[in-house]
Amino acid sequence: MRTGDYSGLSSGSAQGTGEHTATSSHFVDEALEATITEGMRKSEDLLITELGRGEDFLAERVSHLAQAGGKRFRPMFTMLAAQFGENPESDKVITAATVLELTHLATLYHDDVMDEADKRRGVPSANSRWDNTVAILAGDYLFAAASRLLAELGSESVAHFAETFGVLVTGQMRECLNDLDLPIEERIERYLKVIAEKTGVLIASAGYLGAYHAGASADISNALRRYGELIGIVFQIVDDIIDISSNTDQSGKTPGTDLREGVFTLPVLYALQEDTPAADRLREILVGPVSDDALVDEALELLAQTNGVARAMEKVNELLDESDRVIADLPDCAAKDALRHVARYTVERVG
Ligand code: IPE
Ligand code: IPE
Ligand code: MG
Ligand code: MG
Ligand code: MG
Repeated sequence: MRTGDYSGLSSGSAQGTGEHTATSSHFVDEALEATITEGMRKSEDLLITELGRGEDFLAERVSHLAQAGGKRFRPMFTMLAAQFGENPESDKVITAATVLELTHLATLYHDDVMDEADKRRGVPSANSRWDNTVAILAGDYLFAAASRLLAELGSESVAHFAETFGVLVTGQMRECLNDLDLPIEERIERYLKVIAEKTGVLIASAGYLGAYHAGASADISNALRRYGELIGIVFQIVDDIIDISSNTDQSGKTPGTDLREGVFTLPVLYALQEDTPAADRLREILVGPVSDDALVDEALELLAQTNGVARAMEKVNELLDESDRVIADLPDCAAKDALRHVARYTVERVG
């Protein structure tokens, strides 16, 4: 998937190529597509400018993932939400979109340290190319860059974002709690809480800030916030399915990373509820992090024999129905159709 390219999941992968295109089949409406493409281009320019401000050694490290690719999903969602306000082309919308991508990038640098991940966006993660210290400091610098831009959006947005970021970090930390002794139903509940926090909240913020800075009403901004949260939850469940069923060419990441780290995701938790020989063997293997490559492969094969992924997809469909209801009362327009396309894209993506 090229940077900012949502034109479908059949376009193959171009991670690590640093290509920047922004075409999309979400935008059946050509005028909307042109508007969003132009906004994304401005946000990309701002992102690259902000990342290049420091000395060369710093710029190289903090630009590493931005240059490698990425979908730019959060800036795109911000632009789309902005279409529901009177001033969708406001500079503040561009700034908000860029704050969200910078923050997302920062969390990726830190997440790869936590998850000991060696690949991201088809290239070595920062911790793998340099080391954990560089990855943590580069992530901190990205937060600094995000904060500098955030200040331009005013104190209401700073307060909103402080809340958002606190929730995100709470989710990343909650994910680290040991819950192996809890009944599986409670682990599923905790998982759903974690993903709303670590992933839902940032896409919720994209919906809210995009609409708010375009001058949309509080009702509309809040509906787009909730829509973003639900889409974010779906996005993470699909990411967790991708972790156990896609290859690196598709995802740009190493499959089985969650199993290696002992992160139990929804398809895995559902699989562990089954009463079959495959599930019995999974229970034997998945008593914590799995470090042996052959065991990770075996677990991935066993998971494929269970209904874990199918049940996770059922949950996804429930959430999508809910998301449809959340935007039902928004004014009918091309952007509303595009939001529905985005929901479908979120489910169909493989990387
Ligand atoms: C990855 O996000 C982290 C998750 C929240 C699942 P993306 O899948 O949006 O990653 P990029 O930005 O395209 O690399
Ligand atoms: C990470 O979830 C979510 C955040 C970065 C906050 P994952 O750990 O599943 O994301 P990937 O798979 O590494 O992108
Ligand atoms: Mg990770
Ligand atoms: Mg993680
Ligand atoms: Mg993942």
